[in-house]
Order: sequence, then structure tokens, then C-alpha cells
Amino acid sequence: MQWLVIGQGAIGSLMAINLQRTGVKVALKLRQPQPESVTISLDQQTYSFATQSLPLTEPTHIFAAIKAYQVTEFLAELKQSLLPINSTLVLSYNGMLDNEQEVLPAGALHWVTTHGAYRDGAAVIHAGHGESWLGWAQVEQASNRRPAEVFTALNNALPLLNWSPAIHQRRWQKLAMNCLINPFTVIHQCRNGELLHQQVLDEQYALAEELVWLAHHHGVLLQVEDLVQQAQQVIHQTANNYSSMYMDVKHGRPTEIDYLNGFVARQSMQAGHPAPHHQALWHRVRELSLY
Ligand code: PAF
Repeated sequence: MQWLVIGQGAIGSLMAINLQRTGVKVALKLRQPQPESVTISLDQQTYSFATQSLPLTEPTHIFAAIKAYQVTEFLAELKQSLLPINSTLVLSYNGMLDNEQEVLPAGALHWVTTHGAYRDGAAVIHAGHGESWLGWAQVEQASNRRPAEVFTALNNALPLLNWSPAIHQRRWQKLAMNCLINPFTVIHQCRNGELLHQQVLDEQYALAEELVWLAHHHGVLLQVEDLVQQAQQVIHQTANNYSSMYMDVKHGRPTEIDYLNGFVARQSMQAGHPAPHHQALWHRVRELSLY
């Protein structure tokens, strides 16, 4: 089965290279205009990929590592182009959409990771080794039935992969990591590891408390202490990494803040339980970015 990787950011590039290294056929879907092939390097080695556009003619495993603000448009494009039968869609993005359960197609999978990577021109730097989780995107579909071929390919490419019958729980945890780390790297203009020397711990506790309330409201149980400890651990593990939000601001791209702290602030407000710490970071990052 061939793979199509969508999104040539750090994680998409890392996955494309690692899938190709295991011997599977990988093409990339680029934004217009499409050259015939693209090269990306990792650890001083260069990898070449054919490019592919939609619609697809053969069954394909799609790995889409995109920005939260691209998800709705991408899913609409995919719906229009009618995927060949037996194709699979694996989605990976930071943050959450307000209307997710309405827009996510049945049979889509979420891939959640703590691997840290960033792009530097044509190179991808795998700055922090973590682990990943795969599970069905639709809450009602969550089950132990795991798609063996996709799971094995992704695990061989970028271990360690865990099967998660409750991927939404993992996504809330990842949301927390992004909310507790990324905005501070923008405010302090630093790598993740440098946050250890900034006074962010009290603020992380306050953010975790607000997020735990909202998660609970959505039926997901998280613990404040666990989230703060995990955030500190991720900061250690990815100390050398520039967060995705830092890179977005640096390159004048939109950030995902509306889908991270912005999501928590909006949803909390709607639920009648304001989240002032998320609200403040949401506005601060919006002020610091061009968008
Ligand atoms: O968004 C990111 O950059 C990453 O997910 C992480 C690990 C939270 C920070 O580098």
C-alpha cells in the first residue's frame, strides 16, 4: 500500500522520511505549484519524494500532519475527491476545533505524538524523541479494533506507537502540553528547554486547573499535578526543540493559538466557567504574531 503525506512541516517531513526508510512507497502532496519531486534532509542524508495531487486513483494511506486551521478546508477537499475504497486517513494536528465531531469523517484516525521536531530550510531536525498514540477519531467508534497495517507501518517508521482506544483522552493531554508550553516559547522567544529558567511554573498550574475543569466538562478526567509534571517532562525531553508556535511566529505564519489556549478560553466561556489564564495567553500571542 502506498502512503501520501500531507503537510511538509516538521512532523510531516519526519514521518515521510521515516516511512520511506522502512521501504514503503511515499509521495507528498504539496501546496501549488507542484514540482515533480521534492527533497528533504535529515541527519545530513537527503531523501527524495514524488509528488501527488488529489484525487487519488489507488487505495492509499494518508498521513496528514497539518495545522488546526487547515483541517476544515482539507477535509472538504478530501470529501470532494472521493478516496479510493480501502484508503485510510490518519490526522495529526495540535489543538481542537469547536465542531470537530461534525467535520471528522467516519473511519479517520488520530495520531498524537510527543516527538519534537522542527524544519530548518530543506532539513528536518528530530530534536526530541518521544512516543505516539493512534486511535479512532470519532468518539463513538473508539474501540480496541486496530487497523493492523497502518499501525505496523507507523510504528516501524517512528516508534514507539501505542494503540489508544481512548485517543480523545490523549488529545486533551496533548492540548494541555501545547497550552502549557508553546505560548511561553513565543513570549520568551526561546527553545523549550529554556523555559526551565523562566518563571512559568505557577502559570502552568493555573492553566492546568482551567483546562482540567473544561476536560471534565467534556467527560475527560485529567489531574492538574499530572499535567504540570508531564509538561515539565516534555520540556526536558524536547529541550533543544523550538516549539511549532515559536517557528510559526518566527516565519510570519498564522499560529494555532486559536485552537489551543483560544479553544480552552472560548469553550470555558461558553460553559459559563471563564478561563482567564488561557484567555490572557491567547490574546498575548495574537498580539505578538502577525496574524
Ligand atoms: O507543538 C510543539 O512544538 C510540540 O508539540 C511540543 C512538544 C509541545 C513543544 O515542542
